[in-house]
Amino acid sequence: MIFPVSTRNITSGMVLGRDIILDSGRILIKKGTILTNEHINSLINLASQDIYIISGTDKLLPIDEDCQEKFCSRQKIIGELLHAFDKTECALTQMPVTRIVGINKGNSPLMESIADTAHIINMVKNRSESTYRHCVKVGAIAAIIGSWLGYDNEEVGNLMLAGLLHDIGKAIIPLEILNKPSKLNGEEMCTMRRHSAFSYKYLSEIKSMPNSIKVGVLQHHERLNGSGYPLGLNTEDIHDFSKIIAIADIYDAITSDRVYRPRMAHTAALKIIQDETYEGKLDPWIGRVFLEKATG
Ligand SMILES: [Fe+2]
Repeated sequence: MIFPVSTRNITSGMVLGRDIILDSGRILIKKGTILTNEHINSLINLASQDIYIISGTDKLLPIDEDCQEKFCSRQKIIGELLHAFDKTECALTQMPVTRIVGINKGNSPLMESIADTAHIINMVKNRSESTYRHCVKVGAIAAIIGSWLGYDNEEVGNLMLAGLLHDIGKAIIPLEILNKPSKLNGEEMCTMRRHSAFSYKYLSEIKSMPNSIKVGVLQHHERLNGSGYPLGLNTEDIHDFSKIIAIADIYDAITSDRVYRPRMAHTAALKIIQDETYEGKLDPWIGRVFLEKATG
């Protein structure tokens, strides 16, 4: 976990969780630095600035090439899930989904919600196969993270559905923007950024849809430090489902082929998630659990 500490309580050996930046914009000490007495002396004059420290047992995680293999068994679950979805047009109502994430078959509200959204998912699939596959994988990864966090079956089921539905609003984004192989311009970016609100609007029309799923979908591009969209919310106003989906979304986006770039390695995705966690964008606890599990 990363937490703020006043300069008078800093001791040598603590690990810096965020860069310390001077008013001039220059980085005084980089995140991840193990503080020495010399560092502490230089910080005394910065009493008004929050110093963020990684808690005692936390260290920057070693991310090496071997961890990809360790993560493979979890990746197989995602492959199974995609296969289950691909097999039939109305695959959303198939039991493999619930079996894979260990959801009780008797969770009928979830099954009802899944059935109610099957037509939306199929609409996304018909319009953009890559968006559809991304939605399925994010649903699976989010459910896996939820189970790592100790969520019960009902919560894991709702989280999976939120992940599955998080980008359905892209179904109404013009294809020339959705499939553009180069950087989006300002106006196109504005249009693209409306997709989470579109997703929320779709789901609001389904009476059986739990609020946690709707809000989780709406806020999946919000970031803890207020740098996200559509509302620029801060930590306490962002639903935990959104914080989890954000990590699953980044992981899958980085490790999948995109029209504008080829897929990147598992380790590259973990490093980006680690960096964004330390930058205060992603939830430190959820990020920590994900990185620990994903690195074996
Ligand atoms: Fe999104």
